[in-house]
Amino acid sequence: MNTVYFEPTFDDEARRERLYNGQLVVLAPRPASLALVEHARTMIEEAFDGVDPLVAQYEMPVERYVEICAPLKPAFIHNDRTKELLRDLMTDVQADLEQTYIDVPRLRMVTSHGYLTSGVGYAHHPHRDVWYSAPFQQLNWWLPIYEIESESSMAFHPRYWSEPVKNGSAEFNYYEWNSAGRKDASKHVKSDTRKQPKPEEPMELDPQIRLISQPGGIVIFSAAQMHSTVPNTTGRARYSIDFRTVNSADLESGRGAPNIDTACVGTSLRDFARGTDASQLPEEIVALYDDPEAHVGELVFQPTA
Ligand SMILES: [Fe+2]
Repeated sequence: MNTVYFEPTFDDEARRERLYNGQLVVLAPRPASLALVEHARTMIEEAFDGVDPLVAQYEMPVERYVEICAPLKPAFIHNDRTKELLRDLMTDVQADLEQTYIDVPRLRMVTSHGYLTSGVGYAHHPHRDVWYSAPFQQLNWWLPIYEIESESSMAFHPRYWSEPVKNGSAEFNYYEWNSAGRKDASKHVKSDTRKQPKPEEPMELDPQIRLISQPGGIVIFSAAQMHSTVPNTTGRARYSIDFRTVNSADLESGRGAPNIDTACVGTSLRDFARGTDASQLPEEIVALYDDPEAHVGELVFQPTA
């Protein structure tokens, strides 16, 4: 990992290749991303009903903040306009919608000074998404909704692109997590009891890279990338959108990021829907990445917050 490509001119194929090699890509705000950001702002501001969402934490007890945000997250996911704007964005960035499968777009909030650090406002410790059963073909797309600062951003930890970290992923079963943990996120107001794969040895988080763009700018990175939430000390909440994509041809050919330290079971591939018609990936492709013995009860996949 040694390069950040800013607004590159190469196509989606070359972009995926660079990302699988650990590089980062930043796209400038564009009409399609600004439309998505504007839509998210409208939903957030309606939910806060006249209170400024950036400083709402000073106006209300944390329980009330959670009460507002908990329904907002699934409302954003299931909103028809959200889906439409996301498809427009993927078209704009020249992803082939026939081959591109997209997971639901998530809305995240990180309040300042640890006001809310669990459940809906979970601040992510250093991790790779692949520790949570993301495929090595997964790309993450991240957009700030309001202006951010270095102290309210996300961080990448570049040395760990090629350096393994002892971690708890071997105990992670995606199907168990899906059936038990995630749906309870809104109940975790003061602490989080969900078992997450974490680093199990001291890490050196510096030097780290934080990419600060205007609202609607997009950071794209591989799911194998080590990243974390920067503890927000700006006095203002950070709101962001992120979503994940996979390319079906890469899943078929096995092209993706390298696995250096991940041992979880199960796959999140059934959560992705094709850009054109929202169909799921063919089971024969999912089967290449599945662990049938890890299945827990019936496999039911519902987009959740
Ligand atoms: Fe992540």
